Amino acid sequence: MPATSFEPAQPPRRATPLPIWRMFTGEYATNMLLGWDDPAFDDLYRYRRIVTLPYHVVADPDAIGRIFLDNVDNYPKPPLVLRMLSPVLRESLFTAHGADWKDQRRLMAPIFTPHAVAQFAPIFAQVARKAADRWANADRIDVSDEATRATFEVISRALFSGDAALGSDEAGEHILAVLTALGEYRLGVIFGMPWLDQSKVARRGRVSQRHLRRELKDFIRRRQGDPAPPQDFMGRLIEAFSAQHPPDRAAALILDNALLFFVAGHETTSNAVTWSLYCLGGEPNVQERAAHEAQAALAAGVSPAETVARLPYLRQVLEEAMRLYPSVPRIDRVALADDELCGHRIRKGDMVSVWPWQVHRHRQLWANPDRFDPENFSADAKARRHRFQYLPFGAGPRVCIGATFALNEGLLILAEWLARYRFRLDPEHVVAPPASVTLRPKGGLPMLIEPRERVGRRAA
Ligand code: HEM
Repeated sequence: MPATSFEPAQPPRRATPLPIWRMFTGEYATNMLLGWDDPAFDDLYRYRRIVTLPYHVVADPDAIGRIFLDNVDNYPKPPLVLRMLSPVLRESLFTAHGADWKDQRRLMAPIFTPHAVAQFAPIFAQVARKAADRWANADRIDVSDEATRATFEVISRALFSGDAALGSDEAGEHILAVLTALGEYRLGVIFGMPWLDQSKVARRGRVSQRHLRRELKDFIRRRQGDPAPPQDFMGRLIEAFSAQHPPDRAAALILDNALLFFVAGHETTSNAVTWSLYCLGGEPNVQERAAHEAQAALAAGVSPAETVARLPYLRQVLEEAMRLYPSVPRIDRVALADDELCGHRIRKGDMVSVWPWQVHRHRQLWANPDRFDPENFSADAKARRHRFQYLPFGAGPRVCIGATFALNEGLLILAEWLARYRFRLDPEHVVAPPASVTLRPKGGLPMLIEPRERVGRRAA
């Protein structure tokens, strides 16, 4: 296959680092990708000071391995991040630490094994097909909206077997409001004074969070009284936590984790699908190869779970799109004790930050880092790569528990869509990748579509 040339959109880079005070003003406060300067993509280590807080930005893969694996106990999530997330996610797996985190992770691990995830694969395929059916007469769709709608339907069916209230558009809007509020740098959170945060976005987030918690609580109550509950995520969570904890504690943990899956489990995957389609729009030859692979895989008459194994090239595409647009562009930790990273002293209490956005586009780690090229994920290239230079799902013991779910979902959605349609960039639309909590394109991502000839028969 000839070399690719498409350099997908990114925010303009500054020539010099952003002054700290500006991080809290204007667009910089809501778009964490805007402040990057070009020299940062040559630096493996940087030191800054945010007000009184020493802040180390680390892009060196060895040091990343030390933070997330070798010395992981020294680098928990910082109180600042927990203060930001805890009002929403409370005691969930994402915000838990120490023995509590270990206990929850152990209880939830069986829910996310490849075998368990395979049982959701028919949902991924059905939801994707339903969307593709809807486009029969369309020549332009917003792939960001469509991907969000599809992944929202997937997560609500996987979690709640499509409960009417929790699967509604209204619930989707509440999730977006919660995520948007989480995405602001807010001074109240930073200084431990949440009452400072009276912006419209912050207030809307709080209202939505209360609404979702109320709905979830009712749902759990109904479920606990159901003599034959379905074996969806919720059924499995209820079973796992109820066997281990007294009823009140179990109910609280089930609620917090259900909200976590609901909030964390669809926007991230939706962005991965969206950016994959965008990149494929910029590289039609790659799209043709991925589409033919998808058509052949879907025509083989195997189950959706088996179809996933027949999409090795599409997987390269998805992985490459997540390199260029990591749905979680930044991961923060705090040092519990003094340490050394990249030859620099880290003091107890210092903040240490790893930005997949920076690491994945670093000039010392990737050839042509800003170009879309699925060959970065060929078996050979993977074997040559440092294991900590690619981390869309984080790394070490706190790596994303939903990674297999997300990858299989993303692959099946892309396969169904690419097999049926050709996607082209819309020349009238300027693509803008901002980042609040995740990397959702600003103003959506309209693309032109045209139907492909259909090949073969599909499995149920
Ligand atoms: C493309 C999709 C996704 C991406 C890029 C992604 C990314 C991440 C990242 C980077 C982390 C680590 C954060 C840290 O270390 O601070 C994480 C953790 C987590 N993710 Fe995901 N995620 C995705 C999909 C999902 C899905 C579908 C679910 C659940 C249904 C999920 C549930 C979680 C949970 C529960 C954690 C916390 C794990 C722990 O702390 O033990 N994620 N995710």
